[in-house]
Amino acid sequence: MVQLHTLRTVSALRRAIAQLRKRSRSVALVPTMGALHEGHLSLVRLARRRARGVIVSIFVNPAQFAPDEDFATYPRSLDADLAALAQAGVDLVWTPSVEVMYPKGFATRIGLGGPAKVGLEDAFRPHFFDGVATVVAKLMIQCAPDIAVFGEKDFQQLKVVSRLVSDLDLPVTIAAAPIARETNGLAMSSRNAYLSSEERAAAPTLYRVLLACADRIARGEPIVAAMAEGRAEIERAGFRLDYLEARHAETLERVESTGDGPLRLLVAARMGRTRLIDNVPL
Ligand code: PAJ
Repeated sequence: MVQLHTLRTVSALRRAIAQLRKRSRSVALVPTMGALHEGHLSLVRLARRRARGVIVSIFVNPAQFAPDEDFATYPRSLDADLAALAQAGVDLVWTPSVEVMYPKGFATRIGLGGPAKVGLEDAFRPHFFDGVATVVAKLMIQCAPDIAVFGEKDFQQLKVVSRLVSDLDLPVTIAAAPIARETNGLAMSSRNAYLSSEERAAAPTLYRVLLACADRIARGEPIVAAMAEGRAEIERAGFRLDYLEARHAETLERVESTGDGPLRLLVAARMGRTRLIDNVPL
């Protein structure tokens, strides 16, 4: 099996990218936090279709975890990740340490508005998008890709990153990959590893409820009524609901009716120690 070389310093990364650019006219970046699953690999496949050279970053970013969140226990499986990436035909893997990414004295943060402040993930994880934006901006500058691939699984993150790239004139095109799901509908996630077998059996409820709500709204039921019914169903399945909302699919602003634009239904809910998110278009 091909052994992938991991790059651990910015200077080694830059040298390797300069070499890669000699043989690949276009380069795509897939940022991840590792513990790779089929969802991540679908992003890699999209990257390979869109560019000749593919870089994957693996970095569990402390800046996007609150002190009471799971940074220390976040699943890490570097050897398995590297084997999967070699198999997927990735060219370079960027695995900086926390000290390389945030050296002593690091003091810069990107401040966000717009889709980062709409009362969805930001209401429950107030530090999250500032941390994501800071690391994504660094990754874009370090790797200088032509294309960067993000999953629709983290729909608000995708909108925040798109806004960031456009606002800062970063010369990169954002490509969005659809959500990869288990056969029972559960959106794949590194955090699914936390689910007990009972929780795993209940977890697909989120997707079922999203589809049912989308169907009710498409058939003319008022959004408020469809959402109220959906929230009750999710709570009956044993979740503690953070939000279930219909939002404008581009701005993520609140909407009153289907006439307000293309819609996206978004959910976040907790079961045991696991927080799950999902979304569907309407
Ligand atoms: P992570 O959760 O590892 O996800 C990396 C990328 O994979 C994100 O773009 C995410 O949306 C996508 N992804 C995860 N599960 C998916 C699924 N089931 N289907 C499709 N895409 C999926 O998101 C992050 O890391 C971090 O916030 C990061 C952007 C790397 C910044 O630290």
